[in-house]
Amino acid sequence: MDVKEVVKDKYGKAALQVVGGGSASCCASGCCDPITSDLYDEREKLGLPETALLASLGCGNPTALAQLNPGETVLDLGSGGGIDVFLSAKRVGPTGKAYGLDMTDEMLALARENQRKSGIENVEFLKGEIENIPLPDNSVDVIISNCVINLSADKGRVLAEAFRVLKPGGRFAVSDVVVRGVVPPDIRRNVELWVGCVAGALSEEDYRGKLRAAGFVGIDVEPTRIYRAEDARQFLSAEGVEVDAILPAIEGKFMSAFIRARKP
Ligand SMILES: C[S@@+](CC[C@H](N)C(=O)[O-])C[C@H]1O[C@@H](n2cnc3c(N)ncnc32)[C@H](O)[C@@H]1O
Repeated sequence: MDVKEVVKDKYGKAALQVVGGGSASCCASGCCDPITSDLYDEREKLGLPETALLASLGCGNPTALAQLNPGETVLDLGSGGGIDVFLSAKRVGPTGKAYGLDMTDEMLALARENQRKSGIENVEFLKGEIENIPLPDNSVDVIISNCVINLSADKGRVLAEAFRVLKPGGRFAVSDVVVRGVVPPDIRRNVELWVGCVAGALSEEDYRGKLRAAGFVGIDVEPTRIYRAEDARQFLSAEGVEVDAILPAIEGKFMSAFIRARKP
């Protein structure tokens, strides 16, 4: 299976788990993971369907950190169960619009059902790939995304597509996993699997470089949650990794970050 098929399979199953009354990240059953838990405050969650909250699989809260104004058009890359699309739709109000884009049928079905339950009208879920965004050039004010770009095998293409659909002056405001500093490749791969980065996370320098190459300016990378090696101990041990030996090599190097940039 190629990366896309692995990702579709994984998130298709996660969506069905929510439809079946479970949680996509299994927090409800008590195995809260340090990446997806506690990203949204109680006030934000008010009025959203339970199944939108249970489907949350992000690693940040881009809508809370992004500047969103009434009347604007927002696009969420890899919208999953739709939580960030609904939060954006509330912020841009009835004169604005929030699009969610996802390639996994089960996630789209869940997101559309969540929209029906929430009654939020200024939302539209599109089927497609973030490497080929099905929207015209210069049509979006703000691009958000929550822990999805690290899943793409062609991140440069995703950023070029984001640039294309943004209007001049449009903002890129994305949460993603980023690696800081040097981590030996085999260790890096194991930790990335723990964080769920099937296609590998970018280093901060690579992220900045790819954003610049796509044409973005005003680039900023702000850590929002730094992962502790201890949190990954159980997963890494099960993979046969000698955790104590690699702790110094990974401590403080994997993080969720809020990445901002602007189309000139
Ligand atoms: C980690 S989940 C995040 C979902 C959502 N952003 C959230 O915060 O809950 C990743 C989502 O991105 C979608 N996805 C991953 N790669 C994609 C791609 N290349 N094109 C479109 N959707 C993709 C998956 O189907 C899944 O719904």
